[in-house]
Amino acid sequence: MISTRPNIGVRLAGTGSHLPENRLTNADLTKLMETNDEWIVQRTGIRERRKIDRAKGESTATLAAGALKNALAAARLNATDLDLIICATMTPEMECPATACVVSALVGAGHCGAFDLNAACSGFIFGMNTAHDLIKGGAYRTIAVIGADTLTELMDYSNNGRGTAIIFGDGAGAAIFRATDDTTKGILAQGMHADGEGWKEIYVPHEERDFPKGIACDTSKYGYVQMNGASVFKFAVGTFPELIQQTLDKANLTPDKIDMYVCHQSNARILGAARERFGIPEDRLYVNIDRYGNTVGASVPLCLDELVRAGRIKDGMKVMFLGFGGGLTWGSSLWQM
Ligand code: COA
Repeated sequence: MISTRPNIGVRLAGTGSHLPENRLTNADLTKLMETNDEWIVQRTGIRERRKIDRAKGESTATLAAGALKNALAAARLNATDLDLIICATMTPEMECPATACVVSALVGAGHCGAFDLNAACSGFIFGMNTAHDLIKGGAYRTIAVIGADTLTELMDYSNNGRGTAIIFGDGAGAAIFRATDDTTKGILAQGMHADGEGWKEIYVPHEERDFPKGIACDTSKYGYVQMNGASVFKFAVGTFPELIQQTLDKANLTPDKIDMYVCHQSNARILGAARERFGIPEDRLYVNIDRYGNTVGASVPLCLDELVRAGRIKDGMKVMFLGFGGGLTWGSSLWQM
């Protein structure tokens, strides 16, 4: 990788997360639609997810700000120490301003830069890669990357939406990256990819022109995520192992040299298939989808925060982060911690 400042390394300074208290269990879903715990657990591995409560003032920005505050505390930094806040989200607070700006105000970050990045479930990975290379370039020293989403706001909890609504949950996770003199720390290999032709596999229509060619406009679908579950499953099952192999090849490493795989939590079956294919031991590929569902941009940083707090990701380890989702997008970030 070419760097303008090869004498700068990048380290993970702290992580944090924030989840709504309100739980939506599989049993709760059976009161809203025809479904059952066994079907959901077998197909996805999900047992419950979290859901924001608008009446309590919860939103993408409040979750994101909560996660960032916890990450700042873990890093022993003040909000004014940040040079930049990148918020990966596909459910922004509003169209303008960027959610990152609302978060900046909520945490009191002063005049640091703030912008949003939308790469759906790959958002946090794209954010990490961006933050790393901005620090490596020498212009920024301390960058917060947040993944925050509130997909439950875009779910149709009736029989019409049951194939999609069972999957998604709300949450936020954050990580702070800092410049360090230790040049061994930082990204060893990365990738950011998209297949724009695949946009029609996951989209949120708001008007007639938003429906893909061949799909009749249906106003009852406005504002709800439309997902072709079978196509997305096929895409993920194929892409995930390919992405692991490509990333290993770029870094000239074998699967056993990676201390931890931190993957987007889309479906326990997809994660399990990749784990078996590479012979990765169970304790090296983290799974928490049973507790939170698919939290989109938040899923990777939520895993990261749990692993760091449990002492399972530490200095000196090699950690591979992987994401894939709407866009279609997919990406990886392999770190020397
Ligand atoms: N409860 C019970 N039955 C349900 C149901 C639910 N919540 N949702 C759908 N079904 C029914 C369907 O109506 C269908 O019934 P039919 O055969 O009588 O028509 C049957 O179950 C199978 O539906 P299908 O959509 O083919 O299920 P599936 O096996 O593909 O599983 C997903 C659906 C969504 C779990 C699966 O496709 C998946 O995990 N896809 C990937 C999604 C994903 O990871 N998205 C995020 C990407 S980042």
